[in-house]
Amino acid sequence: MEQDWIESYKKSKNGVVMDYYNKKIMAPMVRVGTYPMRLLAYNYGCDIAYSEELIDLKLMKSTRHVNEKLKTIDFIAKDKTLCYRTSEKDVNNVLQLGTASSITALEAAKVVCNDVCAIDINMGCPKFFSVQGGMGSALLSKPDTIKDILTTLKRNLTIPITCKIRLLSTDQETIDLLRIIESTGVSAIGVHCRMIPERPRDPAHWDRLENILNNASFSVPIIANGDIFENSDIEKIRKQTRVDSIMIARGAVKNVSIFSKPSPVDLKQIIQEYLEIAYQTNNSPVNTKYVINSMLNENNITTNKEAKAMASARDYDTITKIWDTNDKYKQFLLDNNIDINNIEDGANKTKTKNKNNTSGKKTKLEETNNENDIKKQKIEEENNNSNNNNINNNNIINKEE
Ligand SMILES: Cc1cc2nc3c(=O)[nH]c(=O)nc-3n(C[C@H](O)[C@H](O)[C@H](O)COP(=O)(O)O)c2cc1C
Repeated sequence: MEQDWIESYKKSKNGVVMDYYNKKIMAPMVRVGTYPMRLLAYNYGCDIAYSEELIDLKLMKSTRHVNEKLKTIDFIAKDKTLCYRTSEKDVNNVLQLGTASSITALEAAKVVCNDVCAIDINMGCPKFFSVQGGMGSALLSKPDTIKDILTTLKRNLTIPITCKIRLLSTDQETIDLLRIIESTGVSAIGVHCRMIPERPRDPAHWDRLENILNNASFSVPIIANGDIFENSDIEKIRKQTRVDSIMIARGAVKNVSIFSKPSPVDLKQIIQEYLEIAYQTNNSPVNTKYVINSMLNENNITTNKEAKAMASARDYDTITKIWDTNDKYKQFLLDNNIDINNIEDGANKTKTKNKNNTSGKKTKLEETNNENDIKKQKIEEENNNSNNNNINNNNIINKEE
């Protein structure tokens, strides 16, 4: 029956009891933590996968859409871009919200609360985009707003609420903040073991978390985040800090097998697996390319032939050729009766529209697309992890066009 999957989907979301003890968690990551990456992470033993940060003002205006074709639930923003996608396979999905106010946080959370297993509030992002709007790490100096947001969500929703903070300047201040958050009844607290001014290249302070947990005990599970790059680091940080769970960001981008494999799985195999999930779930090629490039960057692979070819890749046909999975991709299209010239993603539409351009010159559309790409990359670099405005322009209606 066509609707069977919906019933099974509903059960999968309603019946989940979130447990934050002894868990391996994929951290929220803008543009990386989209649906295919979460599915891949579960395949490699990740227990809980956070979404990229979604800004409340955008999410609250999005609409829920049942995608019969993909058997997914999609949240479509006002500008018709895909805000968030999930499914039964997205087993322990946590949606992270960027917010500065309990009112808009609740409004946004209500839109998705039946389709996510928990909601997390970003209290760690130090970037201008977040902080100037009173979001992210700006919240860390506003305990009253923190309390207001978390208690409002707790009071009005039945799903678990969590938050992710950074270390404050002293351990005592951090303990005091953790106590305030604990008192709101949240289900877990993620601690990124860096302070607000610190950048990813600065080492994470596991020793400070160790000291905090030696000097205070909390009734709420604490999740340690920062500089877990090898599978063996998981046990190391657990032992050193006696933390309840661990959360990995860049280590998972570098090699998602970190969640379960003592030695990393071959990166090409990881990329092939990611790619297969990405095209099967109709992920935007723009986002897919971004994630693969992030994997390459985390491995410092920037100049080999694949990395070079990725620079100009715009569609799945090209990307799958680069990664030697084009036969599989073509078979997938064939099996599913999909006409390659009719795929409604930005890249292929662009190609189709340019079919008649034999001059070799770039059309206005191509130029605009290139400029958009460069602009987007610049914004991404400036905001590094914080700006979530465009993200996942999926095939529903492509913003790039
Ligand atoms: C590509 C990328 C995107 C990120 N986006 C977010 C985000 O949306 N929300 C958030 O709280 N942190 C975000 N972060 C920070 C990570 O969640 C994490 O706290 C940080 O990278 C430290 O963990 P790591 O040392 O394992 O990378 C992002 C990090 C990266 C690398």
